[in-house]
Amino acid sequence: MPQETKKPKILVVDDEQVHRYMLTTLFSEWDWDSAEADDGRTAVAAVEEGPYDAVLMDVRMTTMDGMEALREIHAINPAIPVIIMTAYSSVDSAVAAIKQGAHDYLTKPLDFDRLRETLEVAMGHRRQSEAPSVSGEPFGEDDRIIGASESMQNLWDMILHVAPTEATVLITGESGTGKELIASALHYKSHRAEGPFIKVNCAALTESLLESELFGHEKGAFTGADRRREGRFVQAEGGTLFLDEIGETSPAMQAKLLRVLQEHELQRVGGQETLSVDVRILTATNRDLEKEVEQGNFREDLFYRLNVVVLDVPALRERKGDIPLLSEYFFKSFAEKNNRQVAGITPECMDVLGRYPWPGNVRELENAIERGVILMRGEYLDISGLPLTIQRWADKNAPEETAEPATLKEAEKALILKTLDETGGNRSEAARRLQITRKTLLNKLKSYEEQGR
Ligand SMILES: Nc1ncnc2c1ncn2[C@@H]1O[C@H](COP(=O)(O)OP(=O)(O)OP(=O)(O)O)[C@@H](O)[C@H]1O
Ligand SMILES: [Mg+2]
Repeated sequence: MPQETKKPKILVVDDEQVHRYMLTTLFSEWDWDSAEADDGRTAVAAVEEGPYDAVLMDVRMTTMDGMEALREIHAINPAIPVIIMTAYSSVDSAVAAIKQGAHDYLTKPLDFDRLRETLEVAMGHRRQSEAPSVSGEPFGEDDRIIGASESMQNLWDMILHVAPTEATVLITGESGTGKELIASALHYKSHRAEGPFIKVNCAALTESLLESELFGHEKGAFTGADRRREGRFVQAEGGTLFLDEIGETSPAMQAKLLRVLQEHELQRVGGQETLSVDVRILTATNRDLEKEVEQGNFREDLFYRLNVVVLDVPALRERKGDIPLLSEYFFKSFAEKNNRQVAGITPECMDVLGRYPWPGNVRELENAIERGVILMRGEYLDISGLPLTIQRWADKNAPEETAEPATLKEAEKALILKTLDETGGNRSEAARRLQITRKTLLNKLKSYEEQGR
């Protein structure tokens, strides 16, 4: 029996007629419907008129540009997926479009398989082939980013979006949240993956050492410089340079970095020769750079150069849902590494891990589990295997004793109150989750109130 499927309808927005013709012809070959608009304004009018399943739009057009049209289209219909087309050289505008709510972007010249896949994903006809990780998408040989929380999934989604571009990315977050791991994912998911990935910790060196580390030096540039040395920028040629703790650099260093970022050129310390470099820059900081700019500690122009895309990694205590997953992952990998026969983490221990605030974030959790695995006597990691500071914290912060509900009515009440708590008091949502009508829920709440009085 032939299946009744509605043909998708795509609005093609491009100021070049040839391009529109090519796309609409392609769509009709796929048995899709399409309509054309030759600029942003006509596109907005078309969206106002009739339903479209997706909009495929060039960013740079003469009358109304794509970005403005994107905003207006979403003002009319926020649900309509808009896919941006851009020249390879202007991916920065594509990144900006994604931030503005574009569904995805494609670079010109278009790859038709990718075009079809992207449109199908956008219209919900197909599952995304590279779905955000549920629990740790591998990106390097042994590297994976673990995290099922919504914030980590969004972050992973952003990583996949931004990695293939040339955009400079600023990674922010508290110490130990995984900034370096994210930098390396950005590199290994990029077109530069085959090239070098070089890391420099800007806080670990004095200003003059950092300068020669980054830019290299000529023989005799300073005492002890007995031969010419190439710097990290040159070593990272064709690859990625990750500047960690960028917030710690001096004003003079910031000026030099700005020049490389703007001109892709540098000179060795003590040298005259100008070297040009092809390097993508990623940076990280646990400082609030915007505040540092306000206080005059960080150059505003450099900040804007680095701030093209910001990936903020949430503290572990803000995504406690990831703790069990991370703990299991570290537990298994350290057991393997240390040839330990293990069975698991006890529920009591997991409970403490899940409640502890982890000021040192994932690194602290990783260290605690590693230590636990090494010191383990039996097959289970128990509270007694955790570092003393955490054990003491657990003693002081025992969970409040709540009496177990004894009757069905009490259990029902407890579940209702818990669900309301989880939905932030949203009664309709709570009723939906409990699979009862809103009216039933309101009646029950009323009876609890009466009992309480
Ligand atoms: N989501 C994660 N999945 C797996 N391992 C993680 C994750 N986040 C962090 N880690 C691990 O935790 C440790 C700390 O991470 P990382 O060094 O990337 O943090 P950081 O933010 O750069 O810290 P700092 O600001 O102190 O330099 C690393 O061993 C890293 O592999
Ligand atoms: Mg780091």
